[in-house]
Amino acid sequence: MVILVSCKSWLTSGEIWPRGKGNSEMKHNMTEQLKRIRKAYDLIVEQYHEGIDPFDKIPSELRSSPDFKTFQESTGQINCGAADVREYLEPKPEMRFLDAGCSANLFNYRLDKWPSTYYGVDISPSLIKAMERFVVREDVSIGGLWVRDLSKLPFKDNFFHIASVIGVFEYCTLEYINIALFELHRVLKPQSRVVLDIPNEKHPHYHLMLKVEEELGRPHIAFSRLGFDKILQSLFHIRRIDSSQVMLKYFVETAKQISKKS
Ligand SMILES: C[S@@+](CC[C@H](N)C(=O)[O-])C[C@H]1O[C@@H](n2cnc3c(N)ncnc32)[C@H](O)[C@@H]1O
Repeated sequence: MVILVSCKSWLTSGEIWPRGKGNSEMKHNMTEQLKRIRKAYDLIVEQYHEGIDPFDKIPSELRSSPDFKTFQESTGQINCGAADVREYLEPKPEMRFLDAGCSANLFNYRLDKWPSTYYGVDISPSLIKAMERFVVREDVSIGGLWVRDLSKLPFKDNFFHIASVIGVFEYCTLEYINIALFELHRVLKPQSRVVLDIPNEKHPHYHLMLKVEEELGRPHIAFSRLGFDKILQSLFHIRRIDSSQVMLKYFVETAKQISKKS
């Protein structure tokens, strides 16, 4: 059963931040957004322990809409447990795998059973604590778990061979994504394969996803796909994009060596 997180739950109806605001204000607002996201995901762990389904909070008119069930079912394709993620990443025994925004993936999809070594990073202390308890309880062998946001990864340069960043960038400004992608690139080896995603505005469930996420206290931040692609392509080669789901799934590979932060 995939519990803890119907993590693929989504929200918002547009830009949170007015255009034309200065950089410092954007940064301040991103700080608030990170707090909001952390709190929303911490709450899911609390609700899990209390036997509450987070989706119960969603107004019934939304839940009873004809698309809701299909949307909910389709979320199985847009997480790290989806077959195409493993297929593309091709985990091997000598590989270190970074699951950035890891949520309860370890528990839900047993990513420790991949031949690679699992490392999880998440902004939610409660989720990481829950995964740590799971690791101890089940005697699971992994590389480690960290409470961090993606702008500061606690790893040395060129440490990982493969990575995923699934269901994270929708909560972020392009400015933040720029920093996070640079960090991701820094900790990855050259020619590392990565799967990441952003919302697919053209998908029929897009607006439903935004509403659901809003109800769950996890507002998305709208940004231009062109802007995202530009940042992404400065650091990664895009090998393929799957646009069939409510999230656009990018299959990429680290591009040229750039000067890395020390
Ligand atoms: C929708 S869930 C994604 C779950 C998972 N990656 C998957 O494959 O289904 C988003 C997760 O990313 C985490 N997250 C959101 N923003 C983050 C950030 N800026 N840095 C680190 N983790 C973040 C949340 O706490 C949550 O656990």
